[in-house]
Amino acid sequence: MEYAYEENEFIPQWEPMVGDDDAKAVYDCVKSTFINEGKLAAELESRLASYFGAKHCILSTSGTMALFMAFDALGVRHGDEVIVPDITFAGTADSAMLCGAKAVCADINNKNRTVDISAVEMAITPKTRAVAAVHLNGHAADIDALKKICGPKGIYVLEDTAQSIGSRSPDGRVLGTLGDIATFSLASTKIITCAQGGFVLTNDDKTKDRLIELKDHGRLSRKWNHHPALGFNFKLTDIQCAMALSQLADLDRRLEKMKKLELIYRRELENAGQFVSIPLRDPNSVPWQFEIIFSEPARRQAVVDSLKSANIGTRMPYEPLHLQAPFETAGAFPNAESYTSSALWLPSSPKLEEGDIMRVTDALKKMF
Ligand SMILES: Cc1ncc(COP(=O)(O)O)c(C=O)c1O
Repeated sequence: MEYAYEENEFIPQWEPMVGDDDAKAVYDCVKSTFINEGKLAAELESRLASYFGAKHCILSTSGTMALFMAFDALGVRHGDEVIVPDITFAGTADSAMLCGAKAVCADINNKNRTVDISAVEMAITPKTRAVAAVHLNGHAADIDALKKICGPKGIYVLEDTAQSIGSRSPDGRVLGTLGDIATFSLASTKIITCAQGGFVLTNDDKTKDRLIELKDHGRLSRKWNHHPALGFNFKLTDIQCAMALSQLADLDRRLEKMKKLELIYRRELENAGQFVSIPLRDPNSVPWQFEIIFSEPARRQAVVDSLKSANIGTRMPYEPLHLQAPFETAGAFPNAESYTSSALWLPSSPKLEEGDIMRVTDALKKMF
């Protein structure tokens, strides 16, 4: 059996998968002295656009900045509202608020824990400008249903695909190509990474131009010394792009591996049904975090402590946004609250091998 970690070595909840090829790509870029955004950034944009079958890909410095650029390019401004799922990383909502909008939380569904469509319907007001649908942990949000509701009202549907690169909808369409615009993250906690980074996909030429303006001081070309609009500096450097290109070449293999690793967790924990369960997953969806749900949430902390003493890391799930000061939203969020109190993320790095997972599940089984 294969192992990524030694017998008693600490198994972290997450560790980026970085190899010699990545190191060489970064070294070669540094040695070339062409380290700023340049040819490698252009190559990465073109490879990502063709991987997803999107017309344009624009890089950014993080998934959060990709979201900010996307919201701005959709015209999200002061006084607007953006609907976000109550369970997501704060960046989904921060970015909308930094464009001046109010983030309005909507509960998640109980099926795959993406945003609940009827909760979105109820949250829509005349001020709603966009819905940020998060494909949570590889699970596809129902973009078709959202577009049906939002399209006639002139509300945009953004796909926050930070946790779901390469994952597909149940009918096999690649996530990030179904809504009006999509954003991704290349942070070190993602299946492929360049330490920090992100990108936006769009098929719309005008949106693409605004995204370029935003990332580079309001101009469409670095050759220009005049700046027709306001913008920031969200350029991803070629050093990072070198690493991202090297990682992208390994993406499909990693996606298959993540699916296999979750199946091992599933096989080993199958009989623990009365205590913990692994949420059902559509076969087209690729897991990002290996998650268990406790039927008795009160037992979770003891399991965290016990795994810790077995040198195994875990991570608690997100807290509902509606309970956090910047995103406070009135209303009932029973599914989000139940998820937060009962979920736990087990070691999930794409580096893991079957032997490491058996070590985690053996330690867990001792507690059943
Ligand atoms: C759903 C979601 N959106 C946005 C982000 C932000 O990405 P980044 O950390 O690259 O800014 C994350 C990061 O984990 C995320 O999970």
